[in-house]
Amino acid sequence: AVERTLSIVKPDAVAKNVIGQIYTRFEAAGLKIVAAKLKQLSRAEAEGFYAVHKERPFFNALVDFMVSGPVMIQVLEGEGAVAKNRELMGATDPKKADKGTIRADFADSIDANAVHGSDSAENAAIEIAYFFASSEVYGR
Ligand code: CMP
Repeated sequence: AVERTLSIVKPDAVAKNVIGQIYTRFEAAGLKIVAAKLKQLSRAEAEGFYAVHKERPFFNALVDFMVSGPVMIQVLEGEGAVAKNRELMGATDPKKADKGTIRADFADSIDANAVHGSDSAENAAIEIAYFFASSEVYGR
């Protein structure tokens, strides 16, 4: 089915100037960018976005990192977009990510891991609504 997923190019990858290289991978895989914004997250916004991880030991480091610079946030649309984006990203820990994935090629550590992608269609809907009004998403 045609799905949507939320993708974030994290501060490390924005700072490395590889937004375009990452977008090229989405497009080459048949994913269409149907909404996008470059944004400096506030602490409250980053904490709210990652609220499910609030009790995890890495929560504070994750929030510190996500507010360390602007992020590029986009909605990707396409056949099986959630799984397709996760395949393109590779494992959360870049040391475990398959060769040729975004994280293997651009990420430095489990924190500075270049990209975020929704893990399910349900969470994608929640994450998309967190950053975009429906009027800002230009899908089919
Ligand atoms: P992301 O997909 O954005 O979701 C939560 C983030 O927490 C994850 O990517 C990692 O960058 C970060 N993180 C740091 N440590 C861990 C960990 N041990 N397990 C999962 N995620 C972690």
